[in-house]
Amino acid sequence: MKNVSVVGLGKLGLCLAAVLATNGYNVTGVDVVHSTIDSVNSGRSPIFEPGLEKIIRTNRKRLHATSDFNEITLTSVTFIVVPTPSDASGIFSLRFVEKAVKSLGLALASSKGYHLIVLVSTVMPGSIDTVIRPLLEKASGKTCTTDFGLCYNPEFIALGDVIKGMTEPDFILIGESDKKAGSELARIQKKICKNSPPIERMSFVNAELAKISVNSFVTMKMSFANTLAEICESIPGGDVDKVTTAIGNDRRIGSKYLRGAQGYGGPCFPRDNIAFATFTRSIGAQAELALATHKVNLSQLGRILEILKKENLFPPTKISVLGLSYKPRTNVLDASQSLMLAKALGDEGYEVVCYDPAFSGNSKEIIANGIKLVDGLNECVERSDVCIIATPWEEFYRNPETFNNKIVVDLWRMFKRAPTAASKYIAIGQNQDRTFPFPSEYLEKLSTRETVLAV
Ligand SMILES: NC(=O)c1ccc[n+]([C@@H]2O[C@H](COP(=O)([O-])OP(=O)(O)OC[C@H]3O[C@@H](n4cnc5c(N)ncnc54)[C@H](O)[C@@H]3O)[C@@H](O)[C@H]2O)c1
Repeated sequence: MKNVSVVGLGKLGLCLAAVLATNGYNVTGVDVVHSTIDSVNSGRSPIFEPGLEKIIRTNRKRLHATSDFNEITLTSVTFIVVPTPSDASGIFSLRFVEKAVKSLGLALASSKGYHLIVLVSTVMPGSIDTVIRPLLEKASGKTCTTDFGLCYNPEFIALGDVIKGMTEPDFILIGESDKKAGSELARIQKKICKNSPPIERMSFVNAELAKISVNSFVTMKMSFANTLAEICESIPGGDVDKVTTAIGNDRRIGSKYLRGAQGYGGPCFPRDNIAFATFTRSIGAQAELALATHKVNLSQLGRILEILKKENLFPPTKISVLGLSYKPRTNVLDASQSLMLAKALGDEGYEVVCYDPAFSGNSKEIIANGIKLVDGLNECVERSDVCIIATPWEEFYRNPETFNNKIVVDLWRMFKRAPTAASKYIAIGQNQDRTFPFPSEYLEKLSTRETVLAV
């Protein structure tokens, strides 16, 4: 079985290294952080990702970590999974990739034989042809396509389900320097995947564009669903789930990510969409769609605060925010709407207490002015009058009795049984009790057909 290496053992790279090891590859993981290397070598996961530690432990013989790039020469394939943080303009910086690629090129300079290099990190369109390939050739003194092959192979995973995302993807995207490189990577991917996904092979620039297009499209869908939620909150009898469930049946639309709730967050969605808009504008094309998606997302926090005000829930009401991570099954707080909500409520003068299963045990930490983090759901609920279910961890929906006598504001509406013990249950995206009628100006416009058409 092949020896492969993975450069960058973070949230994505370590999962990839573990998945490759499970599939029989001997994996050398290279990172610059010594605590990460020590952790992996002792069979522990330095990151929070369900199922990962078990895979690392059971594959210890086939997975080892090092800071020495020269060990890469003992392998024939290298995956690069280092960060590409966004700069102030929204463009993904290549500073970590350039450093890693230079170290890799220098290490490969002395090696013999063909090597396949696979860039997994998300990069801007044009990065590989104009920066990465020339840098690799310069540092290694070798020629792409003859001495080494180069591929772009971004992942479409969600944190909390990375292993499943890697092993059961909807499709595999490959940008390739040449057929030989792409075919070798396709063979590896087929071995890793439990399903048989379509493998889309193309030039670097098309693959780079396809990668950021996915998240730009998905965020557009989420902003559309949130717009529907806002509409349903304002029309008599509105119920966003009825609308999205119905239209999600249409295969042109599909039901995934069509849930009117809070805004989107996390380390990829907002920044990939912004990068798409920045790139689009930079080349003189229309960026309005992506910018509108972003604008709608920025307004979601205000929408939730407005709902609290409409319900006459003013400071100094004690509010618990349940869930802080940007989604369940992860402890990542990047661009988390739940964390933003907790901070905004604190700024508005509410007394805020938070609980998140991923941070249980870190209750001493005060995450922002006046916001406290506690260790358990019950304690958090007891210390508040209003409970906002912000991140839809399963635990919050398991036992509706938890919310006995509390006002519950549910941003995700995932109870199997309504929490009847609650003193009031406010599900966003709905206006079931018809308290907010149609605006009279709108009703007036409805009266003649010409006027409606003019709107
Ligand atoms: N996390 C996600 O959900 C996700 C999803 C899709 C794509 N991506 C992309 O994958 C890439 C990696 O993301 P991540 O979330 O795994 O990042 P991360 O910050 O969790 O991990 C990056 C790792 O690379 C290491 N590193 C940095 N410079 C290095 C170098 N020169 N040599 C060796 N190791 C180095 C860091 O120490 C760290 O362990 C990014 O481009 C990101 O956009 C991430």
